[in-house]
Amino acid sequence: MLSDCKGATATITEDHFRKIREAMDQALLPQWVLTDPEIYALEHEKIFPRTWQFLAHESELKNPGDFVTRWMVDDPVLLVKGEDGVIRAFLNSCTHRGTYLCAADSGNRRTFTCPYHGWTFNWHGDLVGVALGNTLYGAELDRSAMGLRPLPRLESVYGMIFGNLDPHAMSLREYLGDMLWYFEILLKRTAEGMEVIGVPHRWVVEANWKLTYENFTGDPYHVQSTHRSTVELGITPHRAGEDGRMGHQIVLTHGHGVNITQLTYVPPHPYQHTPESLWPLFEQSLSPVQARLLKHASVLVGGVFPTLSFVSPQHGTEGEVFNYLNFRVWRPLGPYKVEIWSWCLIDKEAPSDYKQQAYRAYVGSFGPSGTLEQDDTEMWSRVVQASRGHMVRNKNLAYNNFANYLMGYGRVEPDPTFPGPGQAYPGFVDAVSRSIHQYWFELLTADNAAEVMSHEL
Ligand code: FES
Ligand SMILES: [Fe+2]
Repeated sequence: MLSDCKGATATITEDHFRKIREAMDQALLPQWVLTDPEIYALEHEKIFPRTWQFLAHESELKNPGDFVTRWMVDDPVLLVKGEDGVIRAFLNSCTHRGTYLCAADSGNRRTFTCPYHGWTFNWHGDLVGVALGNTLYGAELDRSAMGLRPLPRLESVYGMIFGNLDPHAMSLREYLGDMLWYFEILLKRTAEGMEVIGVPHRWVVEANWKLTYENFTGDPYHVQSTHRSTVELGITPHRAGEDGRMGHQIVLTHGHGVNITQLTYVPPHPYQHTPESLWPLFEQSLSPVQARLLKHASVLVGGVFPTLSFVSPQHGTEGEVFNYLNFRVWRPLGPYKVEIWSWCLIDKEAPSDYKQQAYRAYVGSFGPSGTLEQDDTEMWSRVVQASRGHMVRNKNLAYNNFANYLMGYGRVEPDPTFPGPGQAYPGFVDAVSRSIHQYWFELLTADNAAEVMSHEL
């Protein structure tokens, strides 16, 4: 099994994997896997090239020639809209000598010209210009074989565009499974849907991608401690444990998960403090069950394994809070370095002054310098700081080096009355985090990860 992997995996043995498995069976995770370079190399081999990863929202590419440049971990991607309205994605690398082709983050261009020797490509990725081509190469140069390399797979749901480097991967819809039902609440709740406001922010933090993904997808427990000050200041409404507040952690397939906090009564500002003009639109577009859930919701937060997380909260200042949808990609740059890409989406049909205030609320909470963002980043980097030393890195677990995921283990069963799909565990439990680890481990240790991707776990 291990011989397939990059050379860097030389010191991880079958016995180490057996110990990880045994720990997970007891709702524990060996702490060393959070910072280990060999595990990281294996993740590059087995996980990132085979899973669907979020690239862009269709509202970022409105007109022909609009483009954005993105990353699928280490693969640079250029997305561009053609005159036919089709958004195409290519490896952002010139086919002459491999130069990173388009260095701009976004914009509108008729063509893309490589800065190295001047080859030029159009919206379809065709090579349409070769500097001094006829003179230096002759008229018979076969330009048709030298177009930009298209991404193997590109699919979208509800405006969200995902890529996959595995041509044989299951479809995006199949991969998302029951997450689609929750995506409808977030992205398809009006006829016009959501739009990206501004451009995605990005910044680099000291963290492991598994922990950041798990923090959003399966760890509401940290809010009352890490983000306590934001509740006290009124930046975040509703206190944990206050009367009438209930949460569910929803385990979905393929390592995805959702965490929904609702009020048992209709809140004074239902539908997450969205403008009243949107409420009838929500009721028209959503099923009655979805509309009721949104009406009572306080926060929806979750993730699509491996690198996409989202949160639909209410933030602002005391007495005046606003709803936005924050999508964020955890782009791994190393075992303990993550580049965060963060989008703010707001209902397209919201009044423009609401959009402005909601965007401000996003910047002040989950933007790069936002209060909640600073809280989280500090904790994630502390995990890294405490996980790189000799004791923790002992793969034989000689020092009892386990992260603890015992909350609710064997004690809390799914709530059969929860109206949405998936296994919905009530209250604070580590069920989603445990299911993330299970899927991570299945992919990591599969001889053929594509086989694992093809069936439900
Ligand atoms: S590397 Fe792009 S034109 Fe030479
Ligand atoms: Fe947090």
